[in-house]
Amino acid sequence: MKIVRSPSSLRRAVAAWRRKGLRVGFVPTMGALHEAHLALVRRARIACDRVVVSVFVNPIQFGPKEDLAKYPRPFAKDAALCRREKAALLYHPAVSTMYPPGARTFVEVSGLSQRYCGASRPGHFRGVATVVAKLLSQVAPDSLFLGEKDFQQLVILRRMAADLDFPVRVVGCPIVRESDGLAMSSRNVFLNPAQRAAAPEFHRALLAGVEESRRASATPASVVAAVRRRILKIPGARLDYVGLAETETLEPAQRLSGRLRLLGAVFFGNTRLIDNVPIRR
Ligand code: PAF
Repeated sequence: MKIVRSPSSLRRAVAAWRRKGLRVGFVPTMGALHEAHLALVRRARIACDRVVVSVFVNPIQFGPKEDLAKYPRPFAKDAALCRREKAALLYHPAVSTMYPPGARTFVEVSGLSQRYCGASRPGHFRGVATVVAKLLSQVAPDSLFLGEKDFQQLVILRRMAADLDFPVRVVGCPIVRESDGLAMSSRNVFLNPAQRAAAPEFHRALLAGVEESRRASATPASVVAAVRRRILKIPGARLDYVGLAETETLEPAQRLSGRLRLLGAVFFGNTRLIDNVPIRR
C-alpha cells in the first residue's frame, strides 16, 4: 500500500490505474479508523479494483467549541488497518496542502445543510462539502463510499456530487453497530463508563419510534414524541434533536408514508452522538 501526501503523487497513481482500465473506489475518513470504516473499505474492494482511503482531520468542519485539538490521530494504527484491508493507497495530506494560504472557496449545499445536525453545528456541512469536493477532484474515483450513520452528510454529499457534475457513484453503506446496538463512531472513545453503558439506549429510543410508526393512529409527530420521551429518560443524556425526514430530500415528513428516516443527536457530557433508522410505510 502506498502512502502519499501530495495531490500530484495521488493523481499519478490513480492515472496509472485508469490507463489499465481499473475501477477506483474512494473512502474518505478523518482517521481513528474502526470497524465501520473498515466495512466501507471492504465494500469498496468488492465493487472496485483499487481502493483509496483518505485520512484527513478537516479543520473547517469543526466549530469553535468543538473537539478539533482532541480529535484522535492514531495515524500509524490507521495505516496498518488500511494495509490489512488491502487498500491500494492511503492519502494523508497536510492541512496546508488542502487549504494553502489564500484559499477562499467553499462549497455550500443550501437548504439541506441548515436543519438537524446543521442547526446545532453551523458551518459544519459547508466544511464537509468543501473538503469532499476537493478530495473528489484530487482522487477522481469511480465510486465514493460513505456510511449511513452520518445520514444527513450522505444526502448532502450525494446532492453536491450531482450538482457539481462529479462523475462519481455515491454508495451509502449500512450503519455498523456494537453488539449492544450503539452505532460505531470515533467519538465513542470519549464516553466514560457510565455514559458508555447508557449510550445504547439512544438506539433503543429510535427503535421505539419505529414501533410507534407501526400503530394505525401514528403520525410523524407521535413518532418523534415517542423517541423524545425515551431519550429524556436516558441517564446522563441531553437531547439535541429528533426529526423524521423524507429519505431523499430530508424535508420533515408530513405523512407517515414512503421511505422516511428517523434521525437524532444526543449529548453525553460533551460527546455528541448521532444515529438514525429507516422507516418504511
Ligand atoms: O464522515 C467523516 O468522517 C467526514 O465528515 C468526512 C466525510 C471524511 C469529511 O471530512
